[in-house]
Amino acid sequence: MIFTVAIDGPAAAGKGTISKAVAARFGLAHLDTGLLYRAVGALVLAGADPVVAARTLNPADLEGDHLRTPAVADAASKVAVIPDVRLALVDFQRSFARRDGGAVLDGRDIGTVICPQAEVKLYVTASAERRADRRYQELVGKGLDVTPQGVLDDVRARDARDSGRDTAPLKPAEDAIIIDTSDLSIDEAVERAAAAIAAKWPL
Ligand code: CDP
Repeated sequence: MIFTVAIDGPAAAGKGTISKAVAARFGLAHLDTGLLYRAVGALVLAGADPVVAARTLNPADLEGDHLRTPAVADAASKVAVIPDVRLALVDFQRSFARRDGGAVLDGRDIGTVICPQAEVKLYVTASAERRADRRYQELVGKGLDVTPQGVLDDVRARDARDSGRDTAPLKPAEDAIIIDTSDLSIDEAVERAAAAIAAKWPL
């Protein structure tokens, strides 16, 4: 069975949580494509060339708590502007999307560029304040030294860079279902996503 669920949206909107939950519920493989850009960003912070890092990325590069830090998120959104970095990551994401058994991919350009033929396209969003508040709680929970204002500034800067770039900017696909999680619990958001998938489920 080929069945792709594309979940796009801005930083900390809840894509990761929703993706993991629906992947488990429907038995689909899950790829967090942000991790690819975070891994390239981390390698660049360590001195690598971004395009070389993207072309030679390997599974070990995708491991480690350091990938979740604000510094790496910032570096990720900077390397994500470079067309050759994005190009180097396209084939892997496309074959993952169309792998037998079905897949959920979350990111910024899955429904628009990586897999426009995805059976289900969701655009998960929330106000910048709600997203920053959630990300702040998450980072504090990991013991990181952050401030609410600093996290909000980071989220806004990354939103602007992700939406404003020329190559594969963040935007909803024309046929995406928008899920605004500003006033939804995790369970409510997951149920909306699951209902959208169930409506297109092939069996
Ligand atoms: O978890 P969060 O939503 O904060 O970010 P992420 O999904 O891990 O993505 C980190 C950065 O990678 C984003 O700010 C984007 O600049 C970039 N990215 C992208 O350009 N395209 C994707 N498909 C996924 C991430």
